[in-house]
Amino acid sequence: MLAQGQSPVGLQTVGSVAVHTFAAHQNIQSMTTAHQSMDGQHVNAMAGDRGVDPTRLADYEEVADGHFYDPDAEYEPDPEYAATLAPDAARQRRERIGPTGRPLPYFPIPGPLTDHGPAKIIAMCNQKGGVGKTTSTINLGAALAEYGRRVLLVDFDPQGALSVGLGVNPMELDLTVYNLLMERGMSADEVLLKTAVPNMDLLPSNIDLSAAEVQLVSEVARESTLQRALKPLMADYDYIVIDCQPSLGLLTVNALTAAHKVIVPLECEFFALRGVALLTETIEKVQERLNPELELDGILATMYDSRTVHSREVLARVVEAFDDHVYHTVIGRTVRFPETTVAGEPITTYASNSVGAAAYRQLAREVLARCHAE
Ligand SMILES: Nc1ncnc2c1ncn2[C@@H]1O[C@H](COP(=O)(O)OP(=O)(O)OP(=O)(O)O)[C@@H](O)[C@H]1O
Ligand SMILES: [Mg+2]
Repeated sequence: MLAQGQSPVGLQTVGSVAVHTFAAHQNIQSMTTAHQSMDGQHVNAMAGDRGVDPTRLADYEEVADGHFYDPDAEYEPDPEYAATLAPDAARQRRERIGPTGRPLPYFPIPGPLTDHGPAKIIAMCNQKGGVGKTTSTINLGAALAEYGRRVLLVDFDPQGALSVGLGVNPMELDLTVYNLLMERGMSADEVLLKTAVPNMDLLPSNIDLSAAEVQLVSEVARESTLQRALKPLMADYDYIVIDCQPSLGLLTVNALTAAHKVIVPLECEFFALRGVALLTETIEKVQERLNPELELDGILATMYDSRTVHSREVLARVVEAFDDHVYHTVIGRTVRFPETTVAGEPITTYASNSVGAAAYRQLAREVLARCHAE
């Protein structure tokens, strides 16, 4: 009988969930080069040569079944959270079935870039509050930046939650995205802040932005004010991610007019789909009248907890309704995310080895794969 976390080749077991620790993964990689190419006898001989107890390979084989290079397996498990993603992670990994019930494609690790820009602009949008827009903006941005992409995050919510989540106190700011929108001749460099994450900058906001919603009404081409403001920045970044406020007002229409793609985070709970029809209608109207390039990139299921039947049912409904638009990556519910807000940094740096960080890294790879597929 194995003690918790003490399985033979460093596979940590957490309830029925089995995940590799990073050290174990390395260990396994060296063992399995031989394992994959030879019959059992030879493998055992090779393993013996390497000082590995040959009887233990069978244990490993049973659980891992050849998926040794899965980058998603390279994390230290946060037991509670791992359990929220899959009650039987080992089986899911073996069969490559994702939490959305569809076969999970492989999202390759993106290669380095030699040139940067022009930026793809993504609006993180849902008029429903508290669905994970800000959390997804910060962590998708940070994961893209980790993969060597130059990222600009735009806080387009007067609550300034994105700025707070990156350790900026919005009340202390003299210049924000409001000034960039409303004052002619204002350059973005005066407003831009560097974040602690290399490759990632921020256009912060605070309560001043709420005045813009009113003041913009009398502007000429009021819907494309943000688009004009971002234009000079496009050449410097690979991705610009706009964190929208929870409404479909003029600020959100500005974000949709500036964007190439929309990501819609949906919390996996009963009322998730309520209001989505209104949102898709708004997206279609902006597409027809203001921004023909705009597309829905994907629906992102957030705060998923597979231990509850409810969460699983909601996710199944979402997949039924939106089919291929739903990202294969699903973000589980964990207290780690509220903690990162307090810490003022993304989960990719706050808890780099956590399952939450791995989820947003996988989302970044999926978003990149969708962009490259075009
Ligand atoms: N996967 C998650 N698991 C648990 N808590 C989460 C998760 N994602 C976000 N949260 C928490 O839920 C709350 C709302 O998240 P967030 O601020 O990202 O949503 P939002 O859509 O931007 O909200 P608003 O509409 O108010 O701007 C925050 O406290 C956040 O820390
Ligand atoms: Mg928000």
